[in-house]
Amino acid sequence: MEPSLKVIETVQKQALKDIEAAHSESLLREVELKFLGRKSEFNAILKSLGSLSPDERRILGPRAQEAKTNIQQSIEKKKQSLALQSFDASAEWIDVTLPGERNERGHFHVLSRVRRDIEEIFSGMGFDVADGPEIETEWRNFDALNIPKNHPARDAWDTFWLKESALQEDGSSQRLLLRTHTSPVQIRYMQSHTPPFRIIAPGRCFRREATDATHEHTFHQFEALVVGDDVNTAHFKYIGEEFFSRFFGSKVIVRLRPSFFPFTEPSFEFDISCTVCSGKKCPSCKYTGWLEVGGAGMVNQAVFEAAGYSRDRYQGFAWGFGLERLAMMKYKIHDIRLFHSGDIRFIRQF
Ligand code: PHE
Repeated sequence: MEPSLKVIETVQKQALKDIEAAHSESLLREVELKFLGRKSEFNAILKSLGSLSPDERRILGPRAQEAKTNIQQSIEKKKQSLALQSFDASAEWIDVTLPGERNERGHFHVLSRVRRDIEEIFSGMGFDVADGPEIETEWRNFDALNIPKNHPARDAWDTFWLKESALQEDGSSQRLLLRTHTSPVQIRYMQSHTPPFRIIAPGRCFRREATDATHEHTFHQFEALVVGDDVNTAHFKYIGEEFFSRFFGSKVIVRLRPSFFPFTEPSFEFDISCTVCSGKKCPSCKYTGWLEVGGAGMVNQAVFEAAGYSRDRYQGFAWGFGLERLAMMKYKIHDIRLFHSGDIRFIRQF
C-alpha cells in the first residue's frame, strides 16, 4: 500500500476502533498482532517509507511514528482495563453474614470456678489466700495438729504414705505422705506469720478411701484460719454465715453442733440451713432443714504451741470444708466421681 497521510489516518482510526471493541485479553492480542505485528499493515507502511522521497519521508515519517505510539498506548490502556474487569468479584465475595468457624473457647472446670468464687468472697472480707504442698511431712499433717501417734487416721488405709522420707534441719527425718487435709497449711502459715491474720487455704487432699457417690480418694478442701487476741466463736459463726450467704446467693443460717477434732477445742460440726428449702425440710436435707458442710472449731492451744506461739497468747478459729461438697450443693451434682471423670459432657455444663 502506498503510504500517505490518509492511509496512516485510516489505519490508526481502524486500530483504535478495534482496540476499543476487543473485550477480552486474547482478542486484544489479535488486534495488537494485526496492527503492530511484523506482518502488519502498519509495519508495511513503515517499511515503505524508505522508498519515498526525502520530502515525503519528512512529513510521513514522524506522523507514522506518532500513529504507532498512539496505537501502542491505547493497547496498554486497554490491557489494564481488561485486567481490572477480569478480577472476578463474585469468586472473591465473602458472605459476612454467614456464621464463622467457631474456635471453641476453654473455660474453668467447675471446681476451679468454685475455688475462685470462694477466694473472691474471702478476699472481699480481708482474708489472704495461703497455699501449701500436697506432699507433707507426717509432723505437719498429724503431730503438730495434736493428732496422736496411734490415731487411726495415720493408718495405711487412711493415708497414702511415700517411700521417701524428708531430712529435717535438725538431722532427723520425717515420713512423707499425701496430705489428708488442708490443716497442715495452718502450721506452715503460723510458723512464718505473727497474728493477727485471717487466711483461707484451698487445696487438694488425698485419702485411701473406697470411692462412692460421696467419697473420692482425691478431693479438695478449703481451710480457714483466723487468729488474733480476741477471736471468738461469734466471729466465726458470723463469717460463716456471711460467706455461705454470698456463695449461695441467699440468706444462709449456720448451726454449730458439738464435735471432736484433736486440733480444735471446742470443736463443731458446721451445718448450714438447707439451700434447697431454706430450712423448711425437704429430701435434699433428709427432712432435717440442715446440711453438714464440714468440721470446725477454736484452735487448740497445743497447735499454737507446735507452731511456735506461746500457750494462751492468742485465740483463733479454723474450719475445713469440702470444696466438692459445696460445688455439689450449689450446682446440684449428685455424684462426686463426676468431677474427675474427665467426661467432657459433664465439664461443658458449667
Ligand atoms: N481437717 C479436718 C478434716 O479434714 C477439718 C477441720 C479443719 C476441722 C479445721 C476443724 C478445723 O476433717
